[in-house]
Amino acid sequence: MITKPNTLIMRVDTKDCRPSNAMDMFYDPAKTFEENYTAGPYIDDDKDYRDDTVEPAYTFLGFPIQFPFGIAAGALPTSRHTAAAFRLGYDVNVYKTQRAGEFPCNPFPNVLPLAIDGDLTLEKLRQPLVVAPEYPSDLSKLNITNSFGVPSPDPSVWTVDMQQAQAGAGKGQLLIMAVMGTIRDGYGPEEYYDDFALSAALAKDAGAQVVEINLSCPNVASEGVICYNHDAVLEICRRSKAAIGDTPLVIKIGYFSPDQQTTLEKIVRDVSPYVAAISAINTLQGTIVNADGSQALPGGPGRAKSGVCGAGIRWAGLDMVQRLDSLRKRGGYTYEIIGVGGVMQPADFHAYRAAGADLVQAVTAPMWNPLLAQEVRRSVVSRVSLGMG
Ligand SMILES: Cc1cc2nc3c(=O)[nH]c(=O)nc-3n(C[C@H](O)[C@H](O)[C@H](O)COP(=O)(O)O)c2cc1C
Repeated sequence: MITKPNTLIMRVDTKDCRPSNAMDMFYDPAKTFEENYTAGPYIDDDKDYRDDTVEPAYTFLGFPIQFPFGIAAGALPTSRHTAAAFRLGYDVNVYKTQRAGEFPCNPFPNVLPLAIDGDLTLEKLRQPLVVAPEYPSDLSKLNITNSFGVPSPDPSVWTVDMQQAQAGAGKGQLLIMAVMGTIRDGYGPEEYYDDFALSAALAKDAGAQVVEINLSCPNVASEGVICYNHDAVLEICRRSKAAIGDTPLVIKIGYFSPDQQTTLEKIVRDVSPYVAAISAINTLQGTIVNADGSQALPGGPGRAKSGVCGAGIRWAGLDMVQRLDSLRKRGGYTYEIIGVGGVMQPADFHAYRAAGADLVQAVTAPMWNPLLAQEVRRSVVSRVSLGMG
């Protein structure tokens, strides 16, 4: 049975950050990544919500789609997780980002609740963000930080599991395979860019119908996250597209502030021959502290900053989708847009669609509320009957 999480107070045990009320979850932050990987998802509801007598009414990248909502990269690290998502009516899901070689997970804990009031503006992001003593009772106000370091098993493992994951998609459902490059000892930019292409080729050879590359990751060419480096992004897209041929390529990018607009425009213009869709946004990076100001996540200064997601970043995702849509119209580009960030309830889905998203995805909210897809679908029916849809 699925218990509605937004009717619960989710208290955090400070030792293991466990919500005090047991509930169905795609990914349980009270357990290690390895436990989630080997035993998750933790969903007792075994109902299959799909109806394969219904003809898909939407398309995404040319694939017929039942409904343009799904789970972005993160909460679904195995084929068991993706199968559960498809069964619960999430129709376009991303298998958690994998690498061309084995890579460890950051030390536990990997998810903590944050005390953020309203929008996490760029100004608020300049200050340290404080860990909350408990998860909010109202899911629409949930904010978390996640810090995994993008762990990956060896490709011999994930390529086999990915084939299994494809088999879990029903009529009008689509699996996207996410990959990224790894900076290994002695790697310069060339080797790093090639590693993106290698991981994309591994996904394609394993049968991926769509490959997403995560560009919201560290940069070897200069300081910061790679998606803000025009030359690096272009080179990675060029090489990855050459490696996967006709398979559609999606890029996942972070938030570009207004003073990065020129860079965004240049990137969009130059990658458009290679890229079929742009997914925005990944998390916003913040400094995470305990109430006493000490570093919240263990493991040295490298973990002082981590990604923030949930309700507070919705404004940033919506802003990026609007800007990508207006660039698309102005430039005559054909890329599709995946809107991600702070989709906590049905109204957020509609806001992203109105902003120009062809597909909407969430991670934080479905982790706690696996029935979000059903709620979003029902809201479309009620909007249509009210003459709003
Ligand atoms: C637990 C967790 C793990 C994530 N792992 C990945 C990942 O492997 N690759 C990636 O591109 N994004 C990852 N993300 C980022 C999400 O895909 C998404 O961009 C971000 O969380 C914003 O959406 P949300 O507010 O709905 O969570 C992860 C997010 C969460 C919460």
